Amino acid sequence: MAVYKIAVLKGDGIGPEVVNSALRVLKRLGELSGVSFEFEEGLIGGIAIDRKGEPLPQEALELCLKADAVLLGAVGGPKWDNLPTSKRPEKGLLQIRKALDLYANLRPAKVYEPLISASPLKEEVVRGTDFIVIRELTGDVYYGEPRGIFVENGKRVGINTMKYTEDEIRRVVKKAFEVALKRRKKLTSVDKSNVLEVSGLWRDIVEEEKKNYPDVEVEHLYVDNCAMQIVRRPSSFDVIVTGNIFGDILSDEAAVITGSLGMLPSASLGEKYALYEPVHGSAPDIASKGIANPIATILSTAMMLRYSFNLEKLADAIEKAVELTLQKGYRTPDIYSEGCIKVGTEQMTDAIINSLEEIWEGL
Ligand code: IPM
Ligand code: MG
Repeated sequence: MAVYKIAVLKGDGIGPEVVNSALRVLKRLGELSGVSFEFEEGLIGGIAIDRKGEPLPQEALELCLKADAVLLGAVGGPKWDNLPTSKRPEKGLLQIRKALDLYANLRPAKVYEPLISASPLKEEVVRGTDFIVIRELTGDVYYGEPRGIFVENGKRVGINTMKYTEDEIRRVVKKAFEVALKRRKKLTSVDKSNVLEVSGLWRDIVEEEKKNYPDVEVEHLYVDNCAMQIVRRPSSFDVIVTGNIFGDILSDEAAVITGSLGMLPSASLGEKYALYEPVHGSAPDIASKGIANPIATILSTAMMLRYSFNLEKLADAIEKAVELTLQKGYRTPDIYSEGCIKVGTEQMTDAIINSLEEIWEGL
């Protein structure tokens, strides 16, 4: 039987709590299915700065390079907020994305019917929303040179560079077409080509690639308009593909309209490596209280099973177990509403494992 090696980077804040929950679910699923998972831990983020002096120590990176997939919790917290940008916990994230060449970041935005009242949008607007933002993750102003704060004529100027090569655009656009083919076959490409040359190139590449995917319907939106349409007609989207900075912003917007940030998983994929993490951050205000919602991290492992290991049946089992647990009424405080059963991280994990056992029997 195959053994899947998973590098585990728990990080800061609620990271360790939610990752521990996800590992418990995976272990149980391993027992039920006969698939073996092996976990090895490394440091990232603030805890790595404290213990090793840098946000992504070499050992941690090497661990990831040797693994079949990486599971990450979250990084950052007030303790490290005053460090310069180049030394902050978040730098560890940016380094690992680049080092593993994780160019396609998949962030599903799905509304769960039992949680629909938690959405800030009207129920009739948000009902049925189920789309995925594919954000380019290794280019754009995040990495473009020149960058920095310089002095010109005795005054400081801040500079960042929005830059994309055609190959960088093409590979993520292709990935988005592939994902769209497996879904409802609708692709929205988002840019700012009325102002930016980079975006003009982006749009050209999408038009070129469209010819290779005749079954996929393509729409182009400017990023400002897309931001509006996400709150006006969210259920009309299927796959949204865009650059790094636009994707950063739109994926937060997409996350909040579902009403349950604590539920959203993500996958960051390259050709050779892949990393899975919840969309939410380290939530330092609730760290170590045992109340964090582990569902986003648990669903991230489902994405890992699907995209890295091709274990579709196991991925489905986890997703169904989460839905069943919500139907039974279990809620962590962030998604609690009256009449439901309020539970902490551990109890939610127990409930999901119970549901998983029930579902597995019926498969
Ligand atoms: C995200 C985050 C990161 C980003 C930060 C923490 C560097 O906002 O993963 O969306 O901007 O990519
Ligand atoms: Mg972000």
